[in-house]
Amino acid sequence: MKMTLLATSLLLASVAFAAPKAQWVTVDSNILGKLAPMQKALMVEKEAGGVSLVQLTEAELEKLSHAIHHELHRCGGYIAHETEAEALLALEPRGDMHYGMKGIFADYAIDQEELVVPMVAEVKAANIEATIRALSAFHNRYYKAQTGTDSQNFLLDTWSKLAAGRSDVKVELVKHANWPQPSVVMTIEGSDSPEEILVIGGHADSIAGGWFGNDKSRAPGADDNASGMATITETIRIAMEAGFKPKRTVQFMGYAAEEVGLLGSKDIANGYKTRSTNVVGVVQFDMTLRKGTVDKDIVMMTDFTNAAQNEFLGRLIDEYVKVPWGYSKCGYGCSDHASWTNAGFPASMPFESTMGDINKAIHTDKDTIESAGGNANHAAKFAKLAVAYMVELAN
Ligand code: BES
Ligand code: ZN
Repeated sequence: MKMTLLATSLLLASVAFAAPKAQWVTVDSNILGKLAPMQKALMVEKEAGGVSLVQLTEAELEKLSHAIHHELHRCGGYIAHETEAEALLALEPRGDMHYGMKGIFADYAIDQEELVVPMVAEVKAANIEATIRALSAFHNRYYKAQTGTDSQNFLLDTWSKLAAGRSDVKVELVKHANWPQPSVVMTIEGSDSPEEILVIGGHADSIAGGWFGNDKSRAPGADDNASGMATITETIRIAMEAGFKPKRTVQFMGYAAEEVGLLGSKDIANGYKTRSTNVVGVVQFDMTLRKGTVDKDIVMMTDFTNAAQNEFLGRLIDEYVKVPWGYSKCGYGCSDHASWTNAGFPASMPFESTMGDINKAIHTDKDTIESAGGNANHAAKFAKLAVAYMVELAN
């Protein structure tokens, strides 16, 4: 009897003092069985299409991230959701979204050689390297740090200078309600079909010092993702110097707060969905600096992306970049392309290496140009692809 009372009161105490299971998390089902130390916390509530839904406390979520990084030697593999409804949506079978969304959203003919070839020839690795060094010089670009806002003002300033004298181009900060770092958006208004938009984007923030990061840690984020922003900046420079006037509207985006859950891009993409904006194509540049050891220079991620557009990008590489390319997958919504896919738009993510060969320095103070090869030659291939994509799809 005494034992039972004791057990009951212990049970009550543990219920009373247990941290609330505040976090709804979807996890790649494959990795669940490999996380023995977390077996107890990882009670699967629902499973669909290789994705499992679990409910965790903040502390368990931190432990999960740690376990994935240190026992499985990979990043992510799960998504933390703000609400149960959002988590359930991630489990819903929408085509084969987790393994490549289908649907054809545009005419993918390649017929702009006369414009594209001379513009591609203008790509200069030295320019890309200079922008990476400038962005990496901010102590960090963390979404809650003052330096994370300063770096966005630097990008605003850099893009505005490149667009000087063009009345059809505007560059602006997009503010977000729940954190201080803004996103940066540049718009070249289309001459024929301005309501049809293509988006060339990447995340401008950086992070280091644990899963949630902090505003003190040094986070140069050269590969992740000054490289993508510098790739886009070189694309803008070439478009402006060539006096490029697209038929469709082209938008370049530097998203805020990607590293803490794709927040900036989610805000923007969901806004476009709400307003029924006609986005005909999205490309995400996140990590273009470090060439993997595998003999594929550009790797198209197949999950949370659009298969037809991925194939189009492959043909653009063959035609204009002339480097070997292939496919790989993140296994989870690893970057801002997932925000666009989740909002129903066709998105792609050309990546620097296969997933099995990722840069281990990201999210640390070691993510520098030096640790990723010492120059921006690899990133230059992505700028050529961005130029080709912009011209071929906009016209
Ligand atoms: N650039 C990474 C994503 C990435 C890393 C892709 C390695 C492929 C290989 C991105 O900035 C990132 O860190 N994403 C998070 C997930 C996100 C939902 C917070 C990650 O991968 O842990
Ligand atoms: Zn990252």
